[in-house]
Amino acid sequence: MEIILRGVFLLTLLHSILVNGQIYDVLEFGADGNGITDDSKAFVKAWSAMCGSGGNSKTFIIPSNKTFLLQPLTFQGPCKSPSVQVKFDGKIVAPINKAAWSDYKLFRWVSFKEIIGLTVNGSGTIHGRGSSFWKQGLPASKRPTQLHFQRCNDLMITGITSFNSPKNHISISECKRVKITKIKLVAPHDSPNTDGINISESSDVDIYDTVIGTGDDCVAINSGSMNINIARMNCGPGHGISVGSVGRDGEESIVENVQVTNCTFIRTDNGARIKTWPNGKGYAKNILFKSLTFRETKNPIIIDQNYVDKGRLDVEESAVAISNVTFTDLRGTSKLDEIIKIDCSKVTYCKDIVLDKIDIATVDGNKPIVECSNVYGKSINANEANGCFKT
Ligand SMILES: *[C@@H]1O[C@H](CO)[C@@H](O)[C@H](O)[C@H]1NC(C)=O
Ligand SMILES: *[C@@H]1O[C@H](CO)[C@@H](O)[C@H](O)[C@H]1NC(C)=O
Ligand SMILES: *[C@@H]1O[C@H](CO)[C@@H](O)[C@H](O)[C@H]1NC(C)=O
Ligand SMILES: *[C@@H]1O[C@H](CO)[C@@H](O)[C@H](O)[C@H]1NC(C)=O
Ligand SMILES: *[C@@H]1O[C@H](CO)[C@@H](O)[C@H](O)[C@H]1NC(C)=O
Repeated sequence: MEIILRGVFLLTLLHSILVNGQIYDVLEFGADGNGITDDSKAFVKAWSAMCGSGGNSKTFIIPSNKTFLLQPLTFQGPCKSPSVQVKFDGKIVAPINKAAWSDYKLFRWVSFKEIIGLTVNGSGTIHGRGSSFWKQGLPASKRPTQLHFQRCNDLMITGITSFNSPKNHISISECKRVKITKIKLVAPHDSPNTDGINISESSDVDIYDTVIGTGDDCVAINSGSMNINIARMNCGPGHGISVGSVGRDGEESIVENVQVTNCTFIRTDNGARIKTWPNGKGYAKNILFKSLTFRETKNPIIIDQNYVDKGRLDVEESAVAISNVTFTDLRGTSKLDEIIKIDCSKVTYCKDIVLDKIDIATVDGNKPIVECSNVYGKSINANEANGCFKT
């Protein structure tokens, strides 16, 4: 009797929590969680119920030990509550292949839009099953982003793991005050455009204690990015951490105040990188790459202002101006002999470039090569880079 009464009491408590709207579990809104049935409708229903109800700290629950199949969907804000948590502990899977997507031409799989004070937190995993997209050789612009966050100020993403996105894993677009910690992003080294995190038109973004290994940039810091801090990332395989590419098709780009510290690059194609297209406008400035370790990285230090996709370089009339970039305390091994390449525009030149405490050996023991063009700046404690600068 007592047990039954307690049970009733607990149910009543649970019911009152549900009805009073603190907790919104997708299973309560009709999700099956069997990995086969499309659970998108249940997710949207639970989201709408939560987002539309007032009160503080709402929690949307994606429970553990369940697999949810989702078609492309958007978690739309603004929500009535000033802070919203997505407790993501289960497993989310995409349709089995491209043909099974209801509409892959939305080019986004799971989107979060215009939600203020959003936290996505938990031990959950999200599987994009991107291989059918990769195999078809579709250009990046024709493939979906896995997790897209747009106009979400005061955003926090922590704990989750993302696998095999059709294109990039996470894009952060038009967001302010973002904190991303302890996440893991995984895709094969030869999967095309599976960038880890792509930041654009966003400011005050901190990315700490992450593990990213994909087929493209671990992080790409694109146009309109300001105050970006990346620390303690384990990057590889992939193309390193990159400012840009920016300035494509004459685009005016502004990137400033970027710090990349205490990161490790393992067998990546690039390490610390800035890439701009010829004939862009704007600037990339105040960039610090500090205390980085390279292991068998192909291009540990690289600024490339002649970044082009497939050799259609016209006469260069402008460039995204690069200035105040410091590389300090960079060590480890380079897979190629060229450990530093700073190839700047002859229109703008790169200005105030500092190479300090560079200690990079080549894997095969050859003498390291440094290649520079059109660079102003200085080297400190980096003898091999002395010839790099114009005076
Ligand atoms: C999930 O499964 C694990 C292993 O079977 C079990 O230990 C855990 O209690 C389960 N969690 C929930 C919430 O059912
Ligand atoms: C995330 O969830 C864990 C476990 O429930 C909790 O300890 C932690 O405080 C949460 N973090 C945030 C930022 O909500
Ligand atoms: C990066 O994000 C921007 C904005 O969302 C998008 O236009 C661009 O295609 C993305 N690039 C990649 C490689 O994912
Ligand atoms: C980087 O590592 C150094 C030495 O361990 C430490 O003092 C510093 O606080 C770290 N900085 C960041 C941003 O992790
Ligand atoms: C150069 O960039 C660093 C950040 O890397 C910043 O702290 C410093 O203030 C900048 N210097 C100037 C003169 O803007």
